Amino acid sequence: MIFTVAIDGPAAAGKGTIGRAVAARFGFAHLDTGLLYRAVGAKGGDPVAAAEGLATADLERDGLRTLAAGQAASRVAAIPQVRAALVEFQRRFARREGGAVLDGRDIGTVICPEAEVKLYVTASAEVRAHRRWLEVGGDESAVLAEVHERDARDMGRADAPLRAAEGAVVLDTSAMGIEEAVGRAIAVVLERMEGR
Ligand code: CDP
Repeated sequence: MIFTVAIDGPAAAGKGTIGRAVAARFGFAHLDTGLLYRAVGAKGGDPVAAAEGLATADLERDGLRTLAAGQAASRVAAIPQVRAALVEFQRRFARREGGAVLDGRDIGTVICPEAEVKLYVTASAEVRAHRRWLEVGGDESAVLAEVHERDARDMGRADAPLRAAEGAVVLDTSAMGIEEAVGRAIAVVLERMEGR
């Protein structure tokens, strides 16, 4: 069975948690595509060469979850040749046998517009910054500034800007706990499966 769940949305909206939970519920493979861009940003040197030569070990290095790594990721993610180098891998993953969940910024718009389910997961910048602050600590207003900066860059870039894909179900998790958000996402997938 080929079945793709595409989850897009801004920084710290809960895509990863929802993606992992949906994948576990249906036995699908899960790919956090943000990790690819974080790994390219962390490699240093020429980002295009880093993307073209990306290896599994690069995805396992320490420090990929820091705010600095997020900023580096969003800078290299604006380079069209970097994005192009990562497209094929993501497309193959999306259409693999057995079902796949991918979360990122352009999954429903560019990587897999034919996805059976498209979700756009969002929340207010303040709520997202608070959640990220709980993970990384430090100064909460600095985390909020980082979130604003990354949102602006991801939504404003010319190549594959962040936006809700056509036909995406929008899930605003500002006032939702994680269980409710996951429950809604699972309901959307079940509905689509039953309608097939
Ligand atoms: O976890 P969080 O939402 O903060 O970030 P992430 O999903 O790990 O993504 C890090 C950065 O990679 C984003 O700010 C985007 O600039 C970039 N990215 C992208 O351009 N396209 C994707 N499919 C995934 C991430």
